[in-house]
Amino acid sequence: MTQRTLVLLKPDTVERGLVGEVLRRFEAKGLRIVAMEHRTIDTATADQHYAEHVERDFYPALREFVTSGPLVSLVLEGDSAVEVVRALNGATDGRKAAPGTIRGDYSLSNRENLVHGSDSEESATREIAIWFPKL
Ligand code: RTP
Ligand code: MG
Repeated sequence: MTQRTLVLLKPDTVERGLVGEVLRRFEAKGLRIVAMEHRTIDTATADQHYAEHVERDFYPALREFVTSGPLVSLVLEGDSAVEVVRALNGATDGRKAAPGTIRGDYSLSNRENLVHGSDSEESATREIAIWFPKL
């Protein structure tokens, strides 16, 4: 089942020079890049993207982080893309994520965990409309 999913290479990925390495993994898996942009987002966009989290106690720190510098947003397409990207990303907390996953190999943090991937087809549709309204 061909799906699209919204992926963010968060500001830590850009800052650490890991954009190429992370993109390489998605492409090597067979996922296709159908849109991509390098940008710095404002707080309104962060709040929209993380609507489900804005009331959480960790959100102020998360908002500070995702607006702290440029990130790369992209849409990936492929068979079961939502689930496949989540598996490649690994568990949310980089300290606990399995080796071999992006977070497991490169993150030691529960917040600065390099990547975002939509968590369902419904979330992907909602998020793609925020980041790439022309798609
Ligand atoms: P994402 O949405 O970024 O793909 O990550 P996820 O589904 O694995 O995790 P989620 O629960 O949706 O959390 C979104 C992002 O918030 C930051 N976070 N900080 N306790 C904390 O300090 C905490 N918990 C989550 C992470 O950057 C996480 O990816
Ligand atoms: Mg999430």
